[in-house]
Amino acid sequence: MSYHLKSNSYIIELASLEDSSFQDLILTKYANSRKIIIVDENTNEYCLEYLLTSFDFLRDAEVILIPEGEDSKVLDLCAQIWDTWTDYRIERKDIVINLGGGIVSDVGGFSASVYKRGLDFINIPTSLLAMVDASIGGKTGIDLGKYKNQLGVFADPKAVYIDMAFLQTLPIGEIYNGFAEMLKHGLIVNAAHWDELSKLKEVELELTEKHIYTSLSIKNGIVLEDPFELGLRKKLNFGHTIGHALEGHFNLKDPISHGYAVALGILAESFISFKKNFITLSELNEIEKVMISNYESIDLSGENLNEIYQLMLNDKKNEKQKILCVLLVGIGQSVINQEITEQEILESLEYLNRLHHEDETIKR
Ligand SMILES: NC(=O)c1ccc[n+]([C@@H]2O[C@H](COP(=O)([O-])OP(=O)(O)OC[C@H]3O[C@@H](n4cnc5c(N)ncnc54)[C@H](O)[C@@H]3O)[C@@H](O)[C@H]2O)c1
Repeated sequence: MSYHLKSNSYIIELASLEDSSFQDLILTKYANSRKIIIVDENTNEYCLEYLLTSFDFLRDAEVILIPEGEDSKVLDLCAQIWDTWTDYRIERKDIVINLGGGIVSDVGGFSASVYKRGLDFINIPTSLLAMVDASIGGKTGIDLGKYKNQLGVFADPKAVYIDMAFLQTLPIGEIYNGFAEMLKHGLIVNAAHWDELSKLKEVELELTEKHIYTSLSIKNGIVLEDPFELGLRKKLNFGHTIGHALEGHFNLKDPISHGYAVALGILAESFISFKKNFITLSELNEIEKVMISNYESIDLSGENLNEIYQLMLNDKKNEKQKILCVLLVGIGQSVINQEITEQEILESLEYLNRLHHEDETIKR
């Protein structure tokens, strides 16, 4: 089975790589270009061989290996990549292939789109999160200190090839990270998708190509309508205002993954939606049940909640010093640009903490 989607200026294919148009694209458009493959430590170990042995034309590709993890999303590392490209005499017509999760597509996409005013790049996502989210939509970005994605550009890949075979080596925790974004897609605009995903008991075994296709169609549909995030696209930030702050807060001491942070952000922002009477208690309970059954609760008792709040003051979605957030107005329905107050944020963090302690009591 294969699925094809058209985005703004590129195609997205969900199929075995060998059955996709990857080879045709390279041999027609980039036959005389140097090929640069960016991998991290894990995709170097688990994914690169499949690519190199499947496609002869990648025999002489230059492989750029970056360290695994969010710490790689920094300007220093991009500068090292640019220096290497200069040493290799990479030219504007050459092609970058990002083989990895969201870190590789963010770093690779950003580095490519800035170097010599823009090299073409192709995304081959290997994590679930990158398949349903990071590899599509044309956003590339790196972090600045503890602030996520503060530097970046909108730059579309030339194509995105999604091959679920890569998921076979992806750790289970990483499957759940991507699953958080899929649940988000359902919650913001598509109740039927949320219902489908809610029913899965063991996500790593039950997730199908169809689920992935629905999720990426949701993201792609939104991006097509609003590529530069002037309105509708902001909905994709549901769970990310509080999620990013939690991620930034823990990043400096005991890092938590992006997907897990988003799952916690979904819970906290659903709680605020309930407190504002936008969703009912039974809707909040339903969301809580699904999220708690898939994600560990978090102990925030030893944390300075005000520090977490302070991080939100720099959120890119803010306007006129106000913290603006996406909130739910039902399951499968959301509204953008909702101001949330310091008190609501602190209460939602206390709610997360309460859930953790209730969870602990139940376990005992
Ligand atoms: N640009 C965007 O639109 C966008 C959207 C969402 C998220 N993001 C960014 O994406 C990043 C998170 O992406 P992620 O969750 O994919 O993280 P990641 O790239 O760090 O991948 C997660 C882990 O899985 C490993 N991995 C990836 N594929 C593998 C495979 N097939 N087998 C074994 N291991 C594999 C990676 O090495 C890493 O250890 C964050 O920095 C986030 O900000 C960007």
